[in-house]
Amino acid sequence: MIAGLATYKLLRKYQKALDHLDLKSGLGHKPLVINVDSRDENRTRILVKSTGLGEDRYKSKLDDLRASVGQKIESVTYFNKDNRFVEISLAHKLLENKVNYADLIGNVKKPFSFVVGKSQNNVITENLEDVPHYLIAGSTGGGKSVAFKSLLLGLLETSKRIQLYIFDFKQVEMNEFSVLPNVQVIKDEHEASLLLEGVVKEMNKRYKMFEERKEKKISPDRDKLSRIIIGIDECSDLLGKVKKNDPKFESMERAKRCLNELSRKARASGIHLIFATQKVDVNSIDTQIQENLEGRLSLRMNTIENSVRVLQNSMSYYLPSIAGRAIWKKGASYTEVQCPFLSDDELNQRLDALKEKFYEEEVTMIKTEKEVVKDAEPDPWVSGEKVN
Ligand SMILES: Nc1ncnc2c1ncn2[C@@H]1O[C@H](COP(=O)(O)OP(=O)(O)O)[C@@H](O)[C@H]1O
Ligand SMILES: [Mg+2]
Repeated sequence: MIAGLATYKLLRKYQKALDHLDLKSGLGHKPLVINVDSRDENRTRILVKSTGLGEDRYKSKLDDLRASVGQKIESVTYFNKDNRFVEISLAHKLLENKVNYADLIGNVKKPFSFVVGKSQNNVITENLEDVPHYLIAGSTGGGKSVAFKSLLLGLLETSKRIQLYIFDFKQVEMNEFSVLPNVQVIKDEHEASLLLEGVVKEMNKRYKMFEERKEKKISPDRDKLSRIIIGIDECSDLLGKVKKNDPKFESMERAKRCLNELSRKARASGIHLIFATQKVDVNSIDTQIQENLEGRLSLRMNTIENSVRVLQNSMSYYLPSIAGRAIWKKGASYTEVQCPFLSDDELNQRLDALKEKFYEEEVTMIKTEKEVVKDAEPDPWVSGEKVN
């Protein structure tokens, strides 16, 4: 009852504010507030039905709206063209809505680090030693790929002994990185499974070596070993469910098994997983793998349910619709951040500048070719003899 009354009061408050703007369509329709979400003291999101009122009409009145509600306007999103629903996010304190990679990366002090983003109070950075595995989630268009690329670039820029394997089956977005000798772009499920089996072997070899030396975990300079990063954009392509008769089934199963094992055991050996995905459910990532991804960046999610699956709360559903805006979860702490913006041009320039740094040393990457079998029997599948 009380909650209902509070909501009613809020609806009235924002309806009054909109009425003040004197907005009316040609047919006399006035904007109607149909929902108010107030997640915390800072932010309110209102959903307005405004049949027949175009974007520019609203834009011309935003200053008046700000004055009449006493809050700042964070974002205005127009959707559903016919019914003209408009979502307006209002807040008392605003975060910057664009921050550049170049202006933030200087804040990183330790090796194997990157910039998470700028919060209300400071620039948040993170490093692989403190948080070994990560998840970046968000609805399409929210800035997931940019966040993924800037994270990987940050790691490359701040570290010396590092190898990066980027899984990009669409082969469009991540090719830039392959100009570096210590980066390999993995292009299909088969290659992914071979690589991951190689990485599991490398993990076991490292643990054996640590045991002999009575060490507990990697120290790249002391051990003269690289940290190995497995970065998977749109990871549901590899980890999602697939039918048994799909030609990719076998490779995907093998890849999943390896990733599961790596997520549980690899951290102290200097092997790290970074996943980007649109949503988190059993169809996109195995629960056991999910549990081991402690650092979580959730860009805006389009349902409460999707936000809860990533963060255990609804915070990323209530984010304003600003590309690069996200909730960073580390352990039990949640911080709203604006992630660094990185253009493709800047990424390419920065990768070019890194070439020298990594060419200096010899880089031995993990192999993904199958061992060549001499005089093997012709493969009946390939020669088409086998008919089922
Ligand atoms: N941190 C950011 N700051 C400002 N704009 C951003 C940021 N990240 C992404 N964008 C903008 O949003 C667009 C979509 O980003 P992208 O990373 O491709 O989204 P997703 O992978 O989630 O679909 C980019 O082309 C860019 O213009
Ligand atoms: Mg993307």
